[in-house]
Amino acid sequence: MKLEILNNYSEMVAVAADIFAKQISEKPDSVLCLATGSTPVGVYQNLIKKVENKEISFKDVKTFNLDEYQGLDANHPESYRYFMNDNLFNHIDINIDNTKVPSGVGNLDEIAKEYDAAIDAAGGIDLLILGIGSNGHIAFNEPGTPFGSYTHTLKLDERTRMDNARFFDGNIDEVPTHAITMGIYSIIRAKKIILLANGKHKARAVKETVQGEITTDVPASILQVHPDVTIIMDHDAASFLGD
Ligand code: GLP
Repeated sequence: MKLEILNNYSEMVAVAADIFAKQISEKPDSVLCLATGSTPVGVYQNLIKKVENKEISFKDVKTFNLDEYQGLDANHPESYRYFMNDNLFNHIDINIDNTKVPSGVGNLDEIAKEYDAAIDAAGGIDLLILGIGSNGHIAFNEPGTPFGSYTHTLKLDERTRMDNARFFDGNIDEVPTHAITMGIYSIIRAKKIILLANGKHKARAVKETVQGEITTDVPASILQVHPDVTIIMDHDAASFLGD
């Protein structure tokens, strides 16, 4: 694992965006896997600027997203499809047909089964970005998820629903109870992974991910075995490391 500890969020997202830009410059038809949550928003803002400045083009890029809430369709402002269109896809030169977000409506078991097959058909993921939940989850893989899991549906932890209630006017009752997510095996098959974490509330999860036992109790701890992972964090998120 490579650790990059930076002074603040804007430095973090600049470093992450440069990794994306290098990937796309070296392989214009890259397959990217993208994340939602508040953490990657600044990365997407930097990528939009790079497209505007003609430093990179998403013309031939394909993207897959990690996860989606069950029951929220693309028009719901808190669906991850809406988030991606709003925060990135509507502002870059990507072909929207080349952007995949698992659908939260329909036959989710079928959708899950087809998702990994679609990633394989695209040639596998070249670069994948992750945030981390305060309980160590990656995508929506909650503690206890088997490391061998493919895309699947699940019940969200109460802690995750509480953490995410801020996006639903602070009302936990509005937060869906279930979701669809790429599995842990679907994630670690990516060739290159970057994980971003900022703030004190992520420090415990970061420490357990980097220095803890590899255990399904901390889903992100599996990243220790991946050959190309970079964790980009601020001093607050790194503050428990070495204790
Ligand atoms: C959600 C997403 C995760 C994300 C996490 C952290 O649960 N499914 O992919 O990493 O939130 O979100 P934030 O970046 O807002 O802290």
